[in-house]
Amino acid sequence: MMDIKSSMAQIKVHDKMFGPFLSDQDIQQQVRKIAEAINSDYAGLRPMFIAILNGSFMFASDLFKYLTIDAEICFIKLASYKGTTSSGQVITAIGLDVDIIGKDIIILEDIVDTGKTLNEFLPKLLHHQPASMKIAALLHKPEAVKFPIRIDYLGFSIPNKFVVGYGLDYDGLGRNLKEIYQLV
Ligand code: XMP
Ligand code: MG
Repeated sequence: MMDIKSSMAQIKVHDKMFGPFLSDQDIQQQVRKIAEAINSDYAGLRPMFIAILNGSFMFASDLFKYLTIDAEICFIKLASYKGTTSSGQVITAIGLDVDIIGKDIIILEDIVDTGKTLNEFLPKLLHHQPASMKIAALLHKPEAVKFPIRIDYLGFSIPNKFVVGYGLDYDGLGRNLKEIYQLV
């Protein structure tokens, strides 16, 4: 059950309590800043955004609305299965049906935590020979990093605490919140 008492009071998602962390306004301000930086860095180009589902759908949607340059977007899902890499997991992209050869790619992620997901996925994308590849992430937990990733456009560096809202979920719930809440 998700119980919202007011837009920025503590909330309960399933069995856990979450406190207000980033307001709708804070988030929109940073998303707009990222879009403005991209508008200027990619002026005259036509980047292809690759948004990683599920968590990034809101970030991708808002960011895209603030873009004034020509841009394309596609959405993919990353699935991991037991494989033969040292980590025991192999990540594959579902829905990457566009040709990225020679394109300027910008990956959109809701949150980079340990960096494991992108660390495994980026080399696979580079294999398809894009002209360039950058990463835009709304959130980053520097204290959690195990696989360092260069984030080119970042919304917020946050403490190593679980967060929900604005696309991010706790066991399926909380994605619809306009704000981001932190586990208390
Ligand atoms: P890694 O460790 O591979 O993890 O960088 C990235 C993915 O882990 C999920 N994640 C979270 N999801 N609240 C969430 O709702 C969090 O605080 C959180 N931390 C990591 C997320 O799916 C992300 O893509
Ligand atoms: Mg995610």
